[in-house]
Amino acid sequence: MSQATATDFVIDAAPVIPVVVIEDASKAADLAKALVAGGLPCIEITLRTAAAMDALEAVASVEGAIPGVGTVVSPQQLEAAKQAGAQFAVSPGHTTTLLDTADALGLPYLPGAATPAEMQGLMERGYKNLKFFPAEASGGAAYLKNFASVFKTIRFCPTGGVSLKNMHEYLSLPNVDVVGGSWVCPKSAVETSNWDELTTLAKEAIKAAHAINA
Ligand code: 3PG
Repeated sequence: MSQATATDFVIDAAPVIPVVVIEDASKAADLAKALVAGGLPCIEITLRTAAAMDALEAVASVEGAIPGVGTVVSPQQLEAAKQAGAQFAVSPGHTTTLLDTADALGLPYLPGAATPAEMQGLMERGYKNLKFFPAEASGGAAYLKNFASVFKTIRFCPTGGVSLKNMHEYLSLPNVDVVGGSWVCPKSAVETSNWDELTTLAKEAIKAAHAINA
């Protein structure tokens, strides 16, 4: 079955998807608990460290967490992530192989796109939710706004250079309901196990997002 329309629960869970880079899998459960406590249940563990798959498995055991895997660039990673408990997967871009593998595995998939041609290709496959990456470097909210009227069915999750400071630029667009970012999970806080800081950052992000739509 196609995973083209299966990611609504990821997009709708909260206004921010924390993008996590983790070096020590033993910290993953506490990290996830802190983000869930702050109101951000979807957690994207990026496959940029040796600890990522174990971390994903730990996040999957946390009550209330919606574990996801990010920076996926190979079908093998999709398979391993599903095995480790990922409920969704995210890629910076996409390939036919990855789209086919996500379909075969039944793993909800958020593929990346930054150009109109890439977006149209994914629309042809039935995709409605896409990651817009790298958001700021690709032209930011001013660029993304152009697609609201031409690709009316597409919702984007902008990621890459998004922060508390500029998230309102994206979340006020009609084609954006969620942004992704690492700012809610800073490396320094993870290194020092400062879980309160993560909860505070998560709450702060949600408050700012609600203020936009108020
Ligand atoms: C990603 O993997 O989506 C981005 O690298 C996250 O970008 P950020 O660190 O600028 O939030």
